[in-house]
Parts: sequence; structure tokens; C-alpha cells
Amino acid sequence: MARPYTPKFLLALLCMLVVGALTSAIAFLVKPALDDIFFKKDITMLKWIPIAVIVIYFTKGVCNYLHALLMNNIGQRIIRNLQNELYRHIQRQSLSFFTKNPTGILMSRITSDANLIQGAVSGALTSLLKDSFTLLCLVFVIFYRDWKLAIIAMLVFPLTVYPITRFGKKSRMVATRTQATVGTLTTLLQETISGTRIVKAFGMENYESKRFAKENERLFRLAMKKVSINALAPPFMEFLGGIGIAAIIFYGGYQVIKGASTPGTFFSFLAALIMLYEPVKRLTDVNNTIQQGIAGAQRVFEVIDTIPEIQNKKNAVSLPRIATGIDIKHVTFCYEDTPVLKDVSLSIKAGEVLALVGMSGGGKTTLVNLIPRFYDVTEGQILIDGHDIRDVTIESLRGQIGIVTQQTILFNDSIKNNIAYGNIGNNTDEQIIRAAKAANAHEFIMKLPNGYDTVIGEQGTKLSGGERQRISIARALLKDAPILILDEATSSLDTEAEIEVQEALETLMKGRTTIVIAHRLSTIRKADRIVALVNGEIVEEGTHETLLEKRGEYFKLYTMQFQDEERSHESDWLKKQ
Ligand SMILES: Nc1ncnc2c1ncn2[C@@H]1O[C@H](COP(=O)(O)OP(=O)(O)O)[C@@H](O)[C@H]1O
Ligand SMILES: [Mg+2]
Repeated sequence: MARPYTPKFLLALLCMLVVGALTSAIAFLVKPALDDIFFKKDITMLKWIPIAVIVIYFTKGVCNYLHALLMNNIGQRIIRNLQNELYRHIQRQSLSFFTKNPTGILMSRITSDANLIQGAVSGALTSLLKDSFTLLCLVFVIFYRDWKLAIIAMLVFPLTVYPITRFGKKSRMVATRTQATVGTLTTLLQETISGTRIVKAFGMENYESKRFAKENERLFRLAMKKVSINALAPPFMEFLGGIGIAAIIFYGGYQVIKGASTPGTFFSFLAALIMLYEPVKRLTDVNNTIQQGIAGAQRVFEVIDTIPEIQNKKNAVSLPRIATGIDIKHVTFCYEDTPVLKDVSLSIKAGEVLALVGMSGGGKTTLVNLIPRFYDVTEGQILIDGHDIRDVTIESLRGQIGIVTQQTILFNDSIKNNIAYGNIGNNTDEQIIRAAKAANAHEFIMKLPNGYDTVIGEQGTKLSGGERQRISIARALLKDAPILILDEATSSLDTEAEIEVQEALETLMKGRTTIVIAHRLSTIRKADRIVALVNGEIVEEGTHETLLEKRGEYFKLYTMQFQDEERSHESDWLKKQ
């Protein structure tokens, strides 16, 4: 992911080399400063050394700034690309992926996991290279000044390796647990804030607050653990450094007293050693950050590496507009192990309206979800005009299917864009208005403050159930798909709203191959054929009249659900007369 930024990286690398070299040059200059100015009292050196110091610090500052700018630029770009890539992958996943992964967890992958990686990438790129190089230069100075002393000082370094790796491991573990907790917390927030009506209706405000506090407490503990690891590393390193310096003063001082070395050499050495502390400290810090980043990256790439279950085949062809019909052949389907649909066979002719009835949980929604390939069949096959739907492109398949379900999914956008969803910007206003009129929605839309430009709130909360449903019918009308799936489109509505929606639905069904799942008799009666699905099996097939005569499953449903409805419709009708 970093490869496209190679030129920037090389420039940053150059800056970094300059910074490392200049840092050690300062330590190097301590010897001439002490020996030539303070002991030999050399006037030329008195002029030149301060000028050199100023030039060195200025150049170092400029390079430091450029280096940080370039490296962070690369780091931020990498993260931006990674987030886009991650989101694209999440969008491409199949429905089953979203059943397995809670919304909040997926949200925290894109936000906080990506943030962790960003910290690691920026930190690693800025500090790891620069500090390592500075370290190397300073080590060169100490060996150049006095290699025996340098070896004594270096003896301390192996001691630091163990704590650095231990701190790193702990950091990674804490980061993993923190991210899991953040995910749970986000899921909880997302559920309880969007479900606030139910929370209030059941008086669960305190319960939810406590649940939140409990998770948040866990997050606090983990945060403190992280602080303690991060705070323990520097003093630890400093202490080890202190031991090194004590050893040096003892041995180096002894050498100077003996006359084997000059004070300049000794202080130059000591300056380099003290300057070593900063990069070493930053390197231990960066190790912790990198470990946390690795924890985040593992989770992000887990998602990126998940291959969507439902994909286009290599040689998938485009499905021509439906002409003869849909054939469902011996289809068995399992979500996990137990089959929800068992050997279902069903043919729907183009232009036919087929009603699916049956008790809740019988597998009606599951069956219609197989047609747009939200899930793939476990056994058997589904053909449209003789093409197995797994052999055609998903775009050409879904492009032919309009869906209206019980839950209307609207977005926090203008009414216009919600109706045009799927093809935003490619419809004229007239087309949108025509669809809205056909869906019985035009009148109420015109009464809204900004008409078609009114923004309807998250999930369309500013509209009533019937209004929302009519918007989604307008959306299906505008899409003008030849195959239509209506999954209990009116069941969440009251009788009055239903009548308006019903009219809109009939307009929508005209001339389309329709599968309608309904629990209202009025809809079912208009169907060309009725199929009863019980426990994943087709038990009956026929028209309203023939099925009633049979006195089987449909008759049972009719007496339980529809008869009351018919009576109440009759009495409504009588009242109106
Ligand atoms: N995502 C899912 N994972 C596992 N089981 C599911 C899932 N969706 C539905 N089911 C199960 O499949 C069965 C049929 O469900 P469904 O097709 O929604 O029935 P219907 O629409 O006829 O009421 C039910 O027993 C339900 O519990
Ligand atoms: Mg259902």
C-alpha cells in the first residue's frame, strides 16, 4: 500500500539521514569545544564552533519538519485508502456476513481499528527509521571517541531487549481487548439509540444506562492498563540508562585522572550517550504503538480477506429481460444445518401473479430471498428463462427485481433521492413525480415543507408508516423492474393506510411477474395462483376457490386469519353504505 508513495518516501529518507547525522555531529563537537576552547583557549574555534552549532540546529529543524510532514502524509494516505478499501469490502459482502457480524463491530473496524493502524503507520514511519538511524550515528560517535568505554556502555543494551518485547506483547493484548470492547459498546449504542422508542416504552432507560456503564467500566480498566504499560516503559529505560552512565563515569573518570584520555573525549562520549536516550525511548514507545496497530490490522484484514459468499462467476453472462418465467427446481436451503426449505419446486410464468401463503416461519421470506441471490440455494437450482441464476451477473439479475418489504428502508436524504435510489441523478423530475403519483404519494409529498426536497430523517422517521411504504413503492415503480417481490408489504399498516398502499401496489404489479407474500385476503384473491408453504414444503397450489373447496391448509389459514378480515371489510362496506 505504501509503494505508490516511493518518491515521497525517498525524500523523507534523505531528511531523516540529515537529522541523524546532525544530531551526532552535536555530540561530536563537544570534544573540540571542550578541548580547544576551554583548555587550549583557541580564539578561531571560539568563533567557528558556535556558528556551526547554529547552522546544525537550523538545518536539523528544517529537515525534521519536512520529514514529519512527508511521513505523515504517506501514513494518512495509506490509512485513507485502507478505510475506503475496507468499506468497499464490507459493502460487497453477502447478507449472511451481516447476520454474523453486528453493525457496531463493523463500524468500529472502520473507525477505531483503522485509527490504531494509523497511529502505528505514522509512528512507525516517522520514528522507527529516523530514531534507528540517529541511534546508529550516535553509536558511531561513542565508538569513535572511545571504543573501550563504548563496550562498557553497550553492555547495558541487552538488558533493555527483554522489557521492550514484554511491554510490546502486553500492549498488543490490551489493544485487542480494547477494540473488542469498543465494538460491543458501539453495537450497544447503535441499538439503543435507534431503538429509543422501545427502550422508553418498556422503561428500560436505567437498565440500558447500567449496561452501558458496565461496558464503559471495562473500557476504563483497559485504558488504565494501557497507561500503566506506557508510563512504565520510560522510567524503566531511564533507570537502565542511569546504570550505564554511572559505569561510564567511574571508568572514564578513572582514565582521565590517569591521563590516558582528555576531558573533551570523555564529555563528547557522555553527550552522545545521553543523547542516545531520546531515540531509544521513542523506539520503545513506537514498539507499543506498532503492536497495537498490528492488533487493529489483524481485524481489518480479516474483513478484507473475507471472500464474499455470493460473487459473479468468471464467465457470468448478462441476463436478458425475463420472457418466459422463473423455475424453482428441487430447492433445499439451510441457514445452518437444519433445512428451512425442503425440495421446493415451483414455476412462475412471466406476467403471472403468484401469492405465497403460510404460517409465520414457514420459509416464505427465505424462498423469495433466493431469487435475487441474497443467499444461494443449498441444493437444487433456480432458473430464469432457463438460465441458472448463478451463471448470470448479479447486476443483471438484481436489476430486474423490484422488492417491497414489510420494513421500509429509507435513507436520511431528500424524498427525491430516496425515490430515485439505485439510479440517483439519472431520472428527470417528471419521472420521479410520475412514480410518486402512481404510488399515491404525490399529494402528501407536496404538503411537506420542501416538497420533493424534504429530508426525511434517519430511517424516514419524519413520515408515517403508510407514507414510508408509498415512497418505497414509488422507488420500485421508478426502477421499473420486470420481476416484483412483495414481502408482506402492507402488514405493518392499519386498514386505512393499507387501502391507499394497496392501490399503489396494484399499479405496481401491472404487467410484472410478481411474487406476493401477503396475509390480507384482498391481495391474495387477485393472484392468479396461490401456493401454501408449510414448514419449508409446498403443500397446496390452486386458486382461492379451488383451495377453499379442498378444505386443506389454505382453508385452515382462511378460517383463522382471513374470514375475520372479510367480515370486517363487509361491515366497513355496510357502514359506508
Ligand atoms: N438469517 C437467518 N439465520 C438462521 N435462521 C433463519 C434466518 N432467517 C430466518 N431463519 C429461520 O428460517 C425459518 C423461516 O423463516 P422465514 O423465511 O423468515 O419465514 P416466513 O417469512 O415464512 O415467516 C424460521 O424458522 C427462521 O427462524
Ligand atoms: Mg417473512
